[in-house]
Amino acid sequence: MQHATLTLDGQTIELPIVEGTEDETGIDVTALRKETGTITLDPGYGNTGSCESHITYIDGENGVLRHRGYPIEDLAQRASFVEVCYLLIYGELPTSTELDEFKHRLTYHSLLHEDMKKFFEGYPATAHPMGVLSAMVSSLSAYYPHAEDDEAVDLNIIRLLAKLKTIAAFSYKRSIGQAYIYPKNSNSYTADFLHMMFAVPSEDYDVPQEVEEALEMLLILHADHEQNCSASTVRMVGSSGANLFASISAGINALSGPLHGGANQEVIRMLEAIQEDGGDAQKYIDKAKDKEDPFRLMGFGHRVYKNFDPRARIIKSTADRVLENLGVDDPLLDIAKTLEEAALEEDYFAERRLYPNVDFYSGILYRAMGIPTDMYTVMFAMGRLPGWIAQWKEMRSDPATRIYRPRQVYQGATERSYQPIEER
Ligand code: SDX
Repeated sequence: MQHATLTLDGQTIELPIVEGTEDETGIDVTALRKETGTITLDPGYGNTGSCESHITYIDGENGVLRHRGYPIEDLAQRASFVEVCYLLIYGELPTSTELDEFKHRLTYHSLLHEDMKKFFEGYPATAHPMGVLSAMVSSLSAYYPHAEDDEAVDLNIIRLLAKLKTIAAFSYKRSIGQAYIYPKNSNSYTADFLHMMFAVPSEDYDVPQEVEEALEMLLILHADHEQNCSASTVRMVGSSGANLFASISAGINALSGPLHGGANQEVIRMLEAIQEDGGDAQKYIDKAKDKEDPFRLMGFGHRVYKNFDPRARIIKSTADRVLENLGVDDPLLDIAKTLEEAALEEDYFAERRLYPNVDFYSGILYRAMGIPTDMYTVMFAMGRLPGWIAQWKEMRSDPATRIYRPRQVYQGATERSYQPIEER
């Protein structure tokens, strides 16, 4: 094993280098504080690995994304979302028997306990569906208490995968004052979600094949992304021993932020603003460059991808075909393309290596499917759910896992005596 040498205040220590299967390396600093009394400091953890993982590999320089070794391009075009769920969670692509059994379990666990419908009634119709989703997922632990044995944990994993799409669709129906549409066992996973979203009790609804295919691809593209903000949150919460539902609920909340999964709905709001401004893309590019202006080009930039986000490439390359298949002509797509072209000609973006990320084009497809803007991040959560589950499961089974408890460098007041109020 290689070592890094650190010399501090005349003391020299050797720190082991951990090498991954894709030749990434990390300096193992677990002994640093004990040996030297000092810690590392890395706000935002941009240079800090929290774990060793077997789930997803990203090469940010070359736009590589693989799940358990399979390139995202192959999975997005050839696999089903349920297959990718199985791959992420259990580590291998399922055989046809395994896939049938998995689908059967997901189908027969998609109903919610009838009492949970009362929770929806307590929310105002204007409640953001991400807040509803995180609360409802957390509430599942009231009905399905956490048990440590693997079989019980696996059953809760199935329940969560099966019920999250029902919760999402029910929250949408509640927000528009329509009756809940229950899961239909003859539907595929993705078609069942769309059926619950758009069917009405008074007539039959056939899920358009094009919409189902487009959503299947988008769910796969969002399925996992190694140690992003929300996955790290799931691991952090789970590291305390918190149950699956509590951990995933925390991940949903982390994803809701506009710098993370919430960006996809902010992109559409930005494109609509540009449209209302007569398509003046340059005005928004100048705002994004202006340090005095808090505005950012939403859907642009990434902590890891520094040349392109392969997911954004796939979405952009299929957007024209998908919109045509859906019979939708959306001017926002042209505005997005114009914005991307204009931004990438600017030194500001090139110097900072800012390119469209997965959120830049995804909202345009959701919009074409008829999904309301405030549900876009819920769609992201539905796609990311198997990834969060896989990360939580790996964290729980990793003997190296300890409760996440980062340190700090204290910069506050040094010791001082309490003064009675009459002396202040
Ligand atoms: C997701 O981690 C993941 O894997 C996330 C994700 C996943 O699948 O889980 O890929 C999903 O969250 C994608 C990102 C969605 N967010 C957005 O699109 C919001 C807009 N983008 C950013 O705010 C930003 O780019 C981040 C949050 C994505 C990344 O932030 P970093 O890595 O902390 O980068 P930074 O904020 O330090 O920016 C570096 C520089 C700064 O300028 P300087 O201080 O060097 O002058 O680039 C600038 C930033 O001001 N910058 C932008 C910008 N993004 C970065 N300037 C204008 N517009 C932007 N979008």
